[in-house]
Amino acid sequence: MSVQIAPSILAADFARLADEAAAVADVADWLHVDVMDNHFVPNLTLGAPVVAALRASTALPLDCHLMIDDPDRWAVEFVQAGAANVTFHAEAAGDVVQTARSIRAAGARAGLAVKPGTDVEPYFDVLGEFDMLLVMTVEPGFGGQEFLRDMMPKVAQARRFLRDTGSALWIQVDGGVDADTIEECARAGADVFVAGSAVYGAADPAAAVEALRAHATAAIDSAGAR
Ligand code: DX5
Ligand code: ZN
Repeated sequence: MSVQIAPSILAADFARLADEAAAVADVADWLHVDVMDNHFVPNLTLGAPVVAALRASTALPLDCHLMIDDPDRWAVEFVQAGAANVTFHAEAAGDVVQTARSIRAAGARAGLAVKPGTDVEPYFDVLGEFDMLLVMTVEPGFGGQEFLRDMMPKVAQARRFLRDTGSALWIQVDGGVDADTIEECARAGADVFVAGSAVYGAADPAAAVEALRAHATAAIDSAGAR
């Protein structure tokens, strides 16, 4: 497993998104873009036009996290806007398999997200349709919330299943990930780490990304080869 860090622009200055992307462009693996519709979650952020503008402003691949109702209808629009990965919520989708297939057919990676109250095991049989599983470590909707440590067994359960089935699927964690919590996420089996406040709340966002990567890598190394 190799560690990937995805700074979330939810904690960035929305009036200076190109500069905020540039601040982490040399050290991050992805730019995480939180799309909220004020229906699936009680917050409203941005849509495909902003994704397209970001695409034109940074070389970082865009990781779109759709926290919206009816992702079946909207997911491909985000691929067309330039997302390299589109993750949608299992709780919001009508047909998770069909939506994953349409994302992949449009040329992006597909991710499946589960809220803290949603078990992952019922989705094990469809994970072959996906490139990434996102285990939320806060209730989706807002940055800066407290990390839900109780989600670590879910990450570990998914990692065991992937290991047992020889799957290369990535496991992403999102919410409350910082220098204090990233190591337990890595030990549980996560390999893609979203961090909003921990990156954009830092005086030096690039240094924060490098520190997060060092913590996660050390945790995986000390846990032994997976
Ligand atoms: C929350 C979003 C997260 C958010 C994380 O619903 O999905 O991506 O930006 O923010 P922090 O890292 O501050 O918890
Ligand atoms: Zn997110």
